[in-house]
Amino acid sequence: MIKTIEWKDGKVKMIDQSKLPLKEEFFECSDYECVIDAIKSMKIRGAPAIGVAAAMGIALGAKNTLVNDADELLKEIDVICEKMRNTRPTAINLFWAIERMRKVVFSNTWAGVEGIKNALENEAIKIANEDVEVNKKMGELGAPLIKNGDGILTHCNAGSLATVKYGTALAPIYHSFKEGKKIHIYVDETRPRLQGARLTIWELNKENIPATLITDNMAGYFMAKGKIDKVFVGSDRIATNGDAANKIGTYSLAILAKEHKIPFYVVAPTSTIDFNVSSGNEIPIEERDESEVTHIGGVQIAPDGISVVNPAFDVTPHRLITAIVTEKGILYPPFEVKIENLRP
Ligand code: MRU
Repeated sequence: MIKTIEWKDGKVKMIDQSKLPLKEEFFECSDYECVIDAIKSMKIRGAPAIGVAAAMGIALGAKNTLVNDADELLKEIDVICEKMRNTRPTAINLFWAIERMRKVVFSNTWAGVEGIKNALENEAIKIANEDVEVNKKMGELGAPLIKNGDGILTHCNAGSLATVKYGTALAPIYHSFKEGKKIHIYVDETRPRLQGARLTIWELNKENIPATLITDNMAGYFMAKGKIDKVFVGSDRIATNGDAANKIGTYSLAILAKEHKIPFYVVAPTSTIDFNVSSGNEIPIEERDESEVTHIGGVQIAPDGISVVNPAFDVTPHRLITAIVTEKGILYPPFEVKIENLRP
């Protein structure tokens, strides 16, 4: 399984997800502006991967600075953090990683410019390594929810590509497959950006996991046919009441799952919980360019001059979620107290 992002020889190496599945190309960023561009243009995407990229971008920004005064460096880092915050608004992992990096700056001001630079590089690498461990843990904990013979539906890409390695929603799937369970994954193509068609089925194929691509509007059909036993999705931000924001279309799947009495699981690390947000209504939803709806692969599919909206995420209310799998355990409803107990 490839590493989506890594710190290598003082640069940030990433797989270019905008080129997949047609080209498997890696690129390197040697300055923070390049990382910002990668997040904005979705060369790297997926909540945990965005967080790791932001952390590494901040470390790069500090590394390249020409200032030799700690106070000046703090000012520069503040500017970089602010630019990072403005890349994408929904995934809380981005803001979580930025805050972790800022804390490291404050606890190392005594160490001077070089000390701060080193501490930031170490912290970014630590965040990336922790991501791998956390995903492995969610894989182990979530795997018992999957039975031999299960058909599982997933949406968007909550796999290895959305993290450093292993993924969130796909982690229990990878783990179950390794244990020898016979499973079949149904992958929603995930309009408008087609993360399912371009990324999820690509990575499942690479791991030889049986998988079938469907368009988003086929989910109900296959549920009614009895092909889907469980739904596994990731999340970009979870409110303290258990409401979970994820790729647009996730909410509709949760309603369909309820109607068909199919368990609906959200798999997300505790870094995806926003302890400052008490319900999904408060989660900011990214609005993306209209062209993502009016065009597919650069080809215009709708008339000129029409009205278009393009929210990138929706919120699944907690009442539709069977359980939330975190690295600290599986949470079952009612979620509020259990989530509160995880507050750092
Ligand atoms: O717009 P994207 O591709 O960054 O959206 C990604 C998702 O919605 C994932 O499901 C989410 O980040 C959780 S996966 C780790």
